[in-house]
Amino acid sequence: MTQNNIRQILSKHQVIPVVNFNNVNDVEQTIESLIEKKINCIEITLRTEMAFECVSIAKKLNLNNFDVGIGTVVTADQIRKAMDLEVSFMVSPGINEKLAPYFEESDIAFIPGIATPSEIIMGKQLNWDTFKFFPAHLFGGITSLKTYGQVFPDVKFCPTGGITEDTHSSYLDLHNVISVGGSWLI
Ligand code: 3PG
Repeated sequence: MTQNNIRQILSKHQVIPVVNFNNVNDVEQTIESLIEKKINCIEITLRTEMAFECVSIAKKLNLNNFDVGIGTVVTADQIRKAMDLEVSFMVSPGINEKLAPYFEESDIAFIPGIATPSEIIMGKQLNWDTFKFFPAHLFGGITSLKTYGQVFPDVKFCPTGGITEDTHSSYLDLHNVISVGGSWLI
């Protein structure tokens, strides 16, 4: 069960909305609008002061079959808080060996970010096989993912960064892409 079964989470959600909340009052309505669009997950980024409060509000809605995850995870302390809040998944913009044991021991599905082949190799050495490809549009997008598919045939990706309504389906057509993420969905 690699990365606490991240592939199981990703395989449920073809698109993952990435949301930066600036107001705690927006959480419920945003989630309702996602559910109306038949999107049953949200990645709340830890980029604003109220981010954890927003995660807590989202969890308290107690929605069945809706996964609340956090994004922009860059410290062990954030992973501890994610455990307290029992989020469904954690997303990091990068990959870092010192954070690896915290992610593994959290028992929460997690996906680290990579952009280059060397970072994929670092991840493989940690026995990981599923990565956020970020920022996809600045690191060759679809062309890079096709090359990574040849070089790393067992690795799967969730590209994010600069993906749009118009481009997301071309990413999803790639055999090594499970899901795509981005803010265009909000
Ligand atoms: C992120 O983590 O910032 C996501 O990749 C969102 O990127 P986007 O706003 O370009 O979709």
